Amino acid sequence: MNSKIYLAPMSGVTDLAFRLVSRRLGASHCFFEMLDSKAIVYGNQKNRGLIKTIKKDSPISAQLLGADPSIMLDAAEQLISLVDISFLDINGACPVKKVTKKGAGAALLKDTALFGRIIKKLVSKLRIPITVKLRTGFDKRDIGECVRTAEECQENGASTVFIHGRTMSQRYSGDIDYESIKAVKKALKIPVFGSGNIFNPLMAKKMLDETGCDGILVARGALGNPWIFKDIESYLKNGETSKNPTPSTKKKILKAHLAYIEKYKDMGPANKIGFMGKIAMWYFKGHYNGTEIRSRISNITSYDELINLIDSVQ
Ligand SMILES: Cc1cc2nc3c(=O)[nH]c(=O)nc-3n(C[C@H](O)[C@H](O)[C@H](O)COP(=O)(O)O)c2cc1C
Repeated sequence: MNSKIYLAPMSGVTDLAFRLVSRRLGASHCFFEMLDSKAIVYGNQKNRGLIKTIKKDSPISAQLLGADPSIMLDAAEQLISLVDISFLDINGACPVKKVTKKGAGAALLKDTALFGRIIKKLVSKLRIPITVKLRTGFDKRDIGECVRTAEECQENGASTVFIHGRTMSQRYSGDIDYESIKAVKKALKIPVFGSGNIFNPLMAKKMLDETGCDGILVARGALGNPWIFKDIESYLKNGETSKNPTPSTKKKILKAHLAYIEKYKDMGPANKIGFMGKIAMWYFKGHYNGTEIRSRISNITSYDELINLIDSVQ
């Protein structure tokens, strides 16, 4: 892997279609959508769809959610028996109440002893690297505590730290705390990847420059904008910002994205067309006629109709 520009894990977003488009446009590594350890162990069929992959969808990793070390291990073993993954990430970042209430996701930041036990158990039993995804804190900024949490992850055997530069309470808004990420990078021996507000090549460079991190995760910046991976790469290489893709290039990539969804997504027809509409709207964000296009998309009832609409947009 030469480039350290990864597509971030995003539940409900980074499905096979999204990953294939991102890879075509430069994402060097992708994650499956987050998997719930209990759903794997107790046999929720939905997980089968979430780990759908094909040969060119590689290299790929998975992220597990959970708070029980034994269930996490059981889930990880089942997962590894089904798919080939480069590493397994433990989610210590999810801010959703339903998740944190059960001690999982970002709640692990408050119980680092449990977080450490989960990491240690997986590291001791599995032959693939175990990584962690963190936030800079739970409900307050505290650089010292943030560094200690990351150090504990490293001590327990984590091989990489991915860190979103916001606390759990900030969810997805507010400034990025580059200083905390920088402190974590300085304190650890293992690689540290920064995440947060990477919406263009300049923001990517800012993350790398301000924190000294080893790589970056692109999340919302890739929605309807998969060119961002190549754009970042070329900007980092030669300082050139590329021009916006032409409307016809955008439409071509959007249609490829929709074709992947049509081919690979296991969903009922009504849900599928609704899902495709959401994806198409992302691509038309910022279009001079965006409001009208989005309202037309919301009335679409079939795949062919959606393609015709896209073709008709100037
Ligand atoms: C729709 C959505 C779903 C997400 N799902 C996950 C997830 O399952 N696991 C995770 O670690 N982070 C998840 N994230 C967080 C992102 O990976 C990323 O850290 C965060 O969005 C900050 O980056 P950004 O400001 O560039 O979007 C999600 C973010 C979004 C917007």
